[in-house]
Amino acid sequence: MKIIVKDNYKGLSRFAAECIQKQVQYNPGSVLGLATGSTPLGLYERLVQDYKVGGTDYSKVSTINLDEYVGLSKTHPQSYHMFMKENLFSLVNIASRNTYIPDGKAKHLEEECKRYDRIINTIGPPDLLILGIGENGHIGFNEPGSSFEGQTHIVELKESTRRANARLFSSIEEVPKQAITMGIKSILYSKKILLLASGEKKKEAIGQLLTGKIDEQFPASALHLHPNVTVVVDELAYNRQI
Ligand code: F6R
Repeated sequence: MKIIVKDNYKGLSRFAAECIQKQVQYNPGSVLGLATGSTPLGLYERLVQDYKVGGTDYSKVSTINLDEYVGLSKTHPQSYHMFMKENLFSLVNIASRNTYIPDGKAKHLEEECKRYDRIINTIGPPDLLILGIGENGHIGFNEPGSSFEGQTHIVELKESTRRANARLFSSIEEVPKQAITMGIKSILYSKKILLLASGEKKKEAIGQLLTGKIDEQFPASALHLHPNVTVVVDELAYNRQI
C-alpha cells in the first residue's frame, strides 16, 4: 500500500483527477469504479473542468458505482444515481448506457445483487476504483464485521453511518436503513484502487488503516490484501506520529 500526503483537499482532488485522466487517456475504454459522498466531489469537479476545456474524452468509458440506498428511486435527490448525474455524468460525455449503479428500488433485492455481480464480472473489473472511507473504516457500505469474501449484498446501515450521512437529508429519519453495496471481494477484484481521505474526521480511520493490521472489524484493512492500492490523504487526515 502506497501513501501519498497532499497539503490540502484541493491537492488531493487534483492528484485523483490526474490519475483518472491518465487512465482514460491510456485506455479510452477504461472501466472506472466510482464512489459518492463528500470526498470525491472535488475530484469530479476537476474532471468536469478538464473536460470543458477540451480535455479527456469519456465516450468509451464505463463506470461501476459502489453502492446505492435501498428504497430511493433513481430520481430521488439523495439517491446515488442523482448524485452521479448531477456531479459527473450529465457534465461530461459519458454514455448513460455505460454507467452502472445498483437499483435501490428493485423489486427483488437479492436478484438485483446477483445482477450487479454479473455486471461487475462482465463489464469489469474496474481498471481503477475510487474509494472513500467511513469514520468507522467502512468502504462502499461494507460496515465493520463485513466478510472479506462478500460480493454485492444488502446491508443494514449502522447508526453512525446514518448519522454521518444525515447532513444530506432533512432529518435522520429520512436516511434509509439499508443499502446495496459491492462487497469487499468485488472491491478487491479491481485492478487498481485509489482510496481518498480528507479532513480531521478521517484521521483516526487512516491511522488505523496504516497500522497494517487486517481485521474484519475494520473493513478498509482488507485493502492490505490487494497489490495495487494508493491511499491519498490531506494533511488533516494524516497523523504523522504513526
Ligand atoms: C459512497 C461510499 C462510502 C463513502 C464513505 C465516505 O459511495 O461508498 O463508503 O465513501 O462513507 O463518505 P464521505 O466522502 O462523504 O466522507
